[in-house]
Amino acid sequence: MIRESTVERVRSAKNVFALTGAGVSAESGVPTFRGGGGATVWKGMPFDVISSAQMVERDLAAVWEWFDYRRGVLRELKPNAAHTTLAEWEEKFNDFTLATQNIDGLHAAAGLKDVLELHGTIWQARCLACDRSKSLRDERGGEQPQRPPVCGTCGGEMRPDVVLFGEMLPANVLERAAEAAERCDVCFVIGTSGVVYPAAGLAEIAKRAGAYVIEINPERTALSDLCDETIKGQAGEILPRFQI
Ligand SMILES: NC(=O)c1ccc[n+]([C@@H]2O[C@H](COP(=O)([O-])OP(=O)(O)OC[C@H]3O[C@@H](n4cnc5c(N)ncnc54)[C@H](O)[C@@H]3O)[C@@H](O)[C@H]2O)c1
Ligand SMILES: [Zn+2]
Repeated sequence: MIRESTVERVRSAKNVFALTGAGVSAESGVPTFRGGGGATVWKGMPFDVISSAQMVERDLAAVWEWFDYRRGVLRELKPNAAHTTLAEWEEKFNDFTLATQNIDGLHAAAGLKDVLELHGTIWQARCLACDRSKSLRDERGGEQPQRPPVCGTCGGEMRPDVVLFGEMLPANVLERAAEAAERCDVCFVIGTSGVVYPAAGLAEIAKRAGAYVIEINPERTALSDLCDETIKGQAGEILPRFQI
């Protein structure tokens, strides 16, 4: 299913860039938004309404309730073979950079040291007043933690440290990802529908700069035409087969 020439090309690559989306976590049990099934709805609100910048202003408590629910689901889930393979690649390639649209923290949980989290992380809160962040990892499932969390530095209210609909991506993270896309010789596009920008634009940057772009996805996506090849299948089955 994977061409030998593709395996060779990847094995001999010096600079590798990978862009991942919700599909890389699907085999861990994290629901994707677009691939299969209708839109996610939380208490009657579509996900792009409850996960929006306006909602932080209108109803911060509801935003916390939604992200607390999602964190509760994620707490039980483990990285899959796609995450662990990509974590190994960080050690094996000369230059390996991974940028993810996922906020689930599963790349880091698999041991990847340097993850560019384009859309932030569900495991952190950020102060609305002074911008400092704090980890939510230590909060235990059973107890009811303070909501919204209070900033230890200025006493301000905190919000989830994720990029919501209608918000900009963290500029320094996007910049590092764009640099890596620009200098890579092989670019992987894994488990993303490729419709959310500017994240999807990273594959376009890599292609324009001359990289060989390999998509891994069971379905065709908005980026399939741009890719040099699409390997149809589940990320957790395909990635380990490269045997880097
Ligand atoms: N895990 C998470 O943190 C998570 C989950 C859902 C959505 N989101 C957010 O929603 C947006 C969704 O965009 P997106 O493109 O990441 O996701 P998406 O839901 O739009 O698309 C998921 C893609 O993954 C593919 N897919 C499904 N199972 C797969 C598998 N086993 N292996 C490989 N591919 C598989 C689907 O065919 C689809 O193309 C992002 O902005 C992201 O921040 C995050
Ligand atoms: Zn503060």
